[in-house]
Amino acid sequence: MEFFADTAETKEIAELSDFGMIDGVTTNPSLIKKSGRDVFQVLEEICDIVDGPVSAEVVAVKSEDMVTEGRRLAQIATNIAVKVPLTLDGLKACKILSSEGKMVNVTLCFSSNQALLAAKAGATFISPFIGRLDDLGMNGMNLIEDIRVIYDNYAFETKILAASIRSPVHVSESALAGADVVTVPPAIIKKLAHHPLTDKGLQSFLADWDQTGMRIV
Ligand code: E4P
Repeated sequence: MEFFADTAETKEIAELSDFGMIDGVTTNPSLIKKSGRDVFQVLEEICDIVDGPVSAEVVAVKSEDMVTEGRRLAQIATNIAVKVPLTLDGLKACKILSSEGKMVNVTLCFSSNQALLAAKAGATFISPFIGRLDDLGMNGMNLIEDIRVIYDNYAFETKILAASIRSPVHVSESALAGADVVTVPPAIIKKLAHHPLTDKGLQSFLADWDQTGMRIV
């Protein structure tokens, strides 16, 4: 499973990239706003740091305007994935942009029928929003499982990108459900490595080693 960082904070992206832990980045208009930076500047910087797909979202609502914005965003770098919303206009824009050879991430997916349409429109990625479904008392992970079955039934190549991830459990469950990619806020990526028994075990190994007086190098 690939890991994308769900952030527009370039410092955090550079730090995670140094650890070799991320395969791409997703941004959205809210994350760009949170960064407080110019959209083009920030996306250019991210694309310089990360070789994998960097999602950049259109903000138009009409398909022709989405296509114009998508083409402009795709000029930033060859690894830009144009993000369009899962509306009829978004699907139409997806079809056009993907037929031009651009990567397209269809976002704001909340049902398996929507995911089916995105695959038919040639999406590179479909982004089901797990956390936002859970927030409504639904089970977001069921959606990932359903999309996996549907895509496998028809050999669709669209990658399932689990989004709106709120906890480490969402990450492991996405992997179990067969998501191709999970996009995760940096704070949660760091939490994945932590376990109290790892810390405790390491402390006791190091304490014992100290008492041997030996050195490895
Ligand atoms: C990523 O592509 C999505 O925009 C993001 O995961 C949404 O997360 P949120 O529901 O926490 O805002």
